[in-house]
Amino acid sequence: MSVLKISDVTKVFAAGNVVAVDTFSLDVANGELVCLLGPSGSGKSTLLRMVGGFERPSSGLITIDGEDITYLPPEKRPTGMVFQSHALWTHMNVFKNLAFGLKLRRVPADEIKRRVENVLELVGLGGYGTRQVTQLSGGQQQRVALARSLVLEPKILLLDEPFASLDQHLRERLREEVRDIQQRLKITTLFVTHGQDEALSMADRIVVMRDGRTEQIDRPDMVYRDPKTPFVAGFIGTMNLIEGQVANGVFTRPGMRVPLPVADGAAILAVRPEALEIAAAADGEAHVHRVTDYGTHGLVDLDLGDGTRLKSMVSHPDLFQPGQGVHLTPRAVAAYRDNAQIYRG
Ligand SMILES: Nc1ncnc2c1ncn2[C@@H]1O[C@H](COP(=O)(O)OP(=O)(O)OP(=O)(O)O)[C@@H](O)[C@H]1O
Ligand SMILES: [Mg+2]
Repeated sequence: MSVLKISDVTKVFAAGNVVAVDTFSLDVANGELVCLLGPSGSGKSTLLRMVGGFERPSSGLITIDGEDITYLPPEKRPTGMVFQSHALWTHMNVFKNLAFGLKLRRVPADEIKRRVENVLELVGLGGYGTRQVTQLSGGQQQRVALARSLVLEPKILLLDEPFASLDQHLRERLREEVRDIQQRLKITTLFVTHGQDEALSMADRIVVMRDGRTEQIDRPDMVYRDPKTPFVAGFIGTMNLIEGQVANGVFTRPGMRVPLPVADGAAILAVRPEALEIAAAADGEAHVHRVTDYGTHGLVDLDLGDGTRLKSMVSHPDLFQPGQGVHLTPRAVAAYRDNAQIYRG
């Protein structure tokens, strides 16, 4: 039960003069799970490593429950970190992997036994203490890595893509388990991922990162429903982004005119596939490129004639064939200019 506060933290790597994290600020509330989501190289791991004490900020402040921990070594801070490559000690059995950190902290042997057994139970590995870690599956090893952090009862749990090496099915299961455990323990958590499904399904709030900065902080449903920049719009879910010009309240591009009550100038129109209606029309502005039937719905790939590709979600994919002309009706659009939202309707 703790509050994490990151204030104006910057990390410049002298090697290559890279600004990995750029005046980044974030407050994580008591018991909250916040996902850091962003493309490769956007600074997610660097930020997490600074919170965990494995990297020194170039400037800025990090506090936990009001205490300045910016320059404390990892073992002196109340954080537990699970890395992408779990780095278990392969010469030790499961019990010893978990007991190691407690021994360092001089916890009495009977208490170590009790805490390790409790945590193994919690991650679904009750009775696995005497197993060698090399005799565990990838998913079980990741659970041991999680248990090894949890057993130290950290105030803040830091997870850096802990399921990246696992297959889709297992990843989804562990994601749910971690969310369950996190909510049961009410442990404040920062979770790094570049999988949007993971972020959307687990997070209380999502921080979309780009070039070491925050692009948007919001609840998962809001990041999807109301992306504040074209970058977020294109990064979360599938989005049609269409470049054009606005003149006299109409967004225009060859073959397409959409009323848009904003000032004249260039604009990017954003339409979700589920909001882009299409109707067969021989003189339509777009042509069907491909039709995919997913059973529950269909996805129609469209060609605007100049290489621009759009997607439309339809309930009756059998109504459309490749080559066919269609007319487009965007039902809900947002518009962006200079990386900012200028319209939402
Ligand atoms: N030790 C280092 N020395 C120099 N540059 C580094 C170092 N660690 C990271 N960087 C650079 O900092 C930037 C951010 O890297 P970081 O690992 O934080 O990204 P990430 O968002 O975690 O990416 P990924 O999704 O690929 O894990 C990158 O440009 C990276 O090359
Ligand atoms: Mg990373």
